[in-house]
Amino acid sequence: MAETAETAELHFNGEVYQIPVVKGTENEKALDISKLRGQSGLITLDAGFKNTGSTQSAITFLDGEKGILRYRGYTIEQLAENASFLEVAYLIIYGELPKAEQLEHWRNDITYHTLIHEDFKVLLEGFPSNSHPMGVLSSLVTSLTAFYPESLDPVRSSNEVDMSIIRLMAKLPTIAAWAYKNEIGQPLMYPKNDLDYCGNFLKMMFGTPAENYEPNPVVISALNKLLILHAEHEQNCSTSTVRIVGSSQASLYASVSAGINALWGPLHGGANQAVIEMLEAIKADGGDVNKYMAKAKDKNDPFRLMGFGHRVYKNFDPRARIIKKAADEVLSQLGVKDPVLEIAKGLEEVALSDPYFVDRKLYPNVDFYSGIIYRALGIPTNMFTVMFAMGRLPGWIAQWKEMRENGEPIGRPRQVYTGENAREYVSLDKR
Ligand code: ACO
Repeated sequence: MAETAETAELHFNGEVYQIPVVKGTENEKALDISKLRGQSGLITLDAGFKNTGSTQSAITFLDGEKGILRYRGYTIEQLAENASFLEVAYLIIYGELPKAEQLEHWRNDITYHTLIHEDFKVLLEGFPSNSHPMGVLSSLVTSLTAFYPESLDPVRSSNEVDMSIIRLMAKLPTIAAWAYKNEIGQPLMYPKNDLDYCGNFLKMMFGTPAENYEPNPVVISALNKLLILHAEHEQNCSTSTVRIVGSSQASLYASVSAGINALWGPLHGGANQAVIEMLEAIKADGGDVNKYMAKAKDKNDPFRLMGFGHRVYKNFDPRARIIKKAADEVLSQLGVKDPVLEIAKGLEEVALSDPYFVDRKLYPNVDFYSGIIYRALGIPTNMFTVMFAMGRLPGWIAQWKEMRENGEPIGRPRQVYTGENAREYVSLDKR
């Protein structure tokens, strides 16, 4: 980011304040108000950070008006078409596409660390069998701090940080699959290190000691694409959470665990589960798409069309476009006919021509079609957001690492206080 010669002027109470304008590498401009309070006593107010940049980041470029998404300069379309998830993870975390030797090293390191400590079984047994796997996932990721206490001091050594990165990348699929196995009461499956990242995860999810499960290449390839499409998305709710938790110098595991919890909500990563539940409900209610469109538009009805709308995409979500195509391919290759897909297509068609959705620029987002693919791949609905977390992991890691390397200050927004003015304490008998 460069400071420009331009300044904006703020006129307030007879004074004029010069506000520097800074520019990113894609020419997007921002007012740097970091000194404004010291000069004028004013802060800026922006609930939900709708128009506030929280950081300077070199990881992802996103243009919501044009529907552009690039990781480290490479378009999401090219990466989804050509790369493996681990290759993209390396790119996002370390800034460049790995050379063959670096990729081999990265893969080997991650494969070597896929096992988790046997004591995790004891932790898992403590969860009721109907626990949501996102809660289990975030708890177990935090628990990694207990097994690797050297990770608690991320300031001390970058070798420790690299080790934490590898462990987290390696162990998250194992933890995710074990959370699922625990929920359905099947024996836990150990990682098999002759399989690739996606194949290994699928084997731990769907394999049993009784049967030899061979992951289907169509499923592996679809999963690889889905993970890439979810891998990074700049300063969204969960990533901002990871950065802000990490800014207190909390460990990588603690920060990512917080990100997993932020992702869980239905307005963020939890939307993929909510979409399928919504489509199922519409199907069970006779499949009347128009009825649900009317509910979504009714301001007195809390119902929202899940999987529609996005804070930054006001044209289309490029990830949704790729996923929609992939959903069609996967369903036809696997020979799956899903009536819920027809309802999804019907909803999309009606919404895209309805003035309510058109005027508000509400388009299908990444979660609208991802759930349909996950269903076709046999992933249970309550694991959808866990899949998202596995995909988003490199993004969280890269943003945490960047925040730390930039030496960013602790995150601490201000507020405008709207409560009572100072008043005297009233004793209990006089209230
Ligand atoms: N259905 C119906 N109306 C909607 C929807 C929706 N899905 N999304 C937004 N709107 C309406 C709002 O009611 C509002 O209308 P108004 O201007 O008349 O008050 C307008 O569109 C703008 O919506 P906001 O909520 O102000 O937009 P915001 O940027 O704050 O929210 C969000 C974005 C949370 C994604 C929202 O569109 C939503 O709730 N979508 C459904 C949940 C979802 O799919 N989330 C996943 C997002 S992708 C991701 O996180 C991975």
